[in-house]
Amino acid sequence: MNQGGFMGIHILHLVGREILDSRGNPTLEVDLGTAKGWFRASVPSGASTGSHEALELRDRESSRYLGKGVQICIRHIQNRLDPAIQKLTFSSAREVDQWLIEQDGSENKTNLGGNTLLAVSMAAHRAFASLANQPLFEYLNKTYFGSRSMTTPTPFMNVINGGKHADNGIQIQEFMIVPHFRNQQKSVHDKVRAGVEIYHHLKKQLSQAGHSTNVGDEGGFAPGLHHEHEAMDFILEAIRKAGYQVGSDVGLALDIAATEFYRNEKYFLHGPAEPLSAQALCEYYVKLLDDYPEIMSIEDPLAEDDWEGWRELSAAVKSRGRQLFLVGDDLLVTNPKRLNQAIERSACNAVLVKMNQIGTVSETIDTLNLALKADWQAIISHRSGETEDPYIAHLVTASGVEWLKAGAPCRSDRNCKYNELFRIYGNKNI
Ligand code: PGA
Ligand code: ZN
Repeated sequence: MNQGGFMGIHILHLVGREILDSRGNPTLEVDLGTAKGWFRASVPSGASTGSHEALELRDRESSRYLGKGVQICIRHIQNRLDPAIQKLTFSSAREVDQWLIEQDGSENKTNLGGNTLLAVSMAAHRAFASLANQPLFEYLNKTYFGSRSMTTPTPFMNVINGGKHADNGIQIQEFMIVPHFRNQQKSVHDKVRAGVEIYHHLKKQLSQAGHSTNVGDEGGFAPGLHHEHEAMDFILEAIRKAGYQVGSDVGLALDIAATEFYRNEKYFLHGPAEPLSAQALCEYYVKLLDDYPEIMSIEDPLAEDDWEGWRELSAAVKSRGRQLFLVGDDLLVTNPKRLNQAIERSACNAVLVKMNQIGTVSETIDTLNLALKADWQAIISHRSGETEDPYIAHLVTASGVEWLKAGAPCRSDRNCKYNELFRIYGNKNI
C-alpha cells in the first residue's frame, strides 16, 4: 500500500483477552497497539459449523466455561505472536496476514487457531485503515476491490429460527426475509426499515395465533411450528400486513443447514420416520420452489460433502430456468480450494462469506473475489454467536456486494451491524 512515502507500520503490542459472545460463550478480543493508537477487533463463533472450517481453538478444560475458554489463544498471542511481531515492520495488512499464516504453518490454522489469527488480522486492517486516514470500508475497497463501486446493501434477515439455533421442532435452520425492492431504488435505511416492520408484524401474528415469540440465537422467533410451510406462510402474511409486495419488494431465503440432519447417506428433514435420499430431497426442493415462487435463495440444501447431490439440485434448478441463489456455506467454508471445486463441478452459484471459516481478512477477500470473478453471487455473513464488532458492515460495503446476512433486527449483537450501515451510509442514497 506504500502510499505517499508510507514506510509501514510497526506493531508495538498485541494483547488478547477473553470476552463473552452473544450466547454467553467466551470468545477472543485483540487490541493491537501502534504509535498511532490502539485498534480492537473480536471474533464470532458458529454453532452449525462446517467440518472443513479453519480450527476454532478452545481450551477444552471442562472446569472452565464448559471447556469453551480461549486462554490458549491468549497465551499464543502473549508468548509467540507479541514478542515476534515487535521486531517487524509491515507495509500492508496483507503482509501481516501472510506473517500470521506462516507463524501458524498449518493447512487449517490448527496450531494457533483461526480465531487467534482472525482477531489479529481484523485489528491490523483497522490499523492500516487509520494510517491511511480512511474508514475501514474505504481502505478495504481500495486495497482489495480495485475501488469497485459500492452497491446499497440488502439484508438477509433471519426472522424464524429452527435447527441448531432453536429448540422447536423445525429442522430448517433459518427462514429469512430479503427486502431487495427489485424494481425500486431504495436506501439501506428503507431496506432495513422494511425488515423491521415485517419482523414486528410477524411477532404480532405469531402471538395472536398463540405461539411463543421467544427468540433464537440470531434474534429470529422460534415458535413451536410443525412444518416449514407454516413458517413461510406466517412470514408471507407479515410481509403483506406490513404493506410490501411479496416477491418484488421482499423475497424469501432459506438456510437448510442440511449437514445437521444428514446421517448414513439419508436426510432426516422430517424426522426419523422419513429418511430421504439426496434425490428425494432434490425433488422436495423443486416442488417447494414451485409452491413458493418468492424463494430467491437456498443455502446448504445438501450436506457438506454430498457433491453429487449438490450437482443434481443445481442441474434441476437450471433446467427449469428458475432464478435462484444456491448458496454454499458448510460446503465451501470460504475456502478458495473448495470454491474452485464447486465452480468446476457446477455445484452451486453463490458463496456465503464468513471470515472465521478461513481465518484472515485477506484470505476471506481472496475467496470472495474468486467468486465474483466467476460471476457468482456472494453473501457476507455473521455467525450465530456474535460480538458487538460490526466489521461485516464494512466488508459488505467495501466489496460492492449487495447481500449481508446479519440476523433478525433484534438484539444488539445483530443490530450493531445494521446500525453501522446507517453510520456508513449516513443520509446518502448510495
Ligand atoms: P452458524 O450458523 O454461525 O451457527 O454456523 C450460521 C449459518 O449456518 O449460516
Ligand atoms: Zn449456513
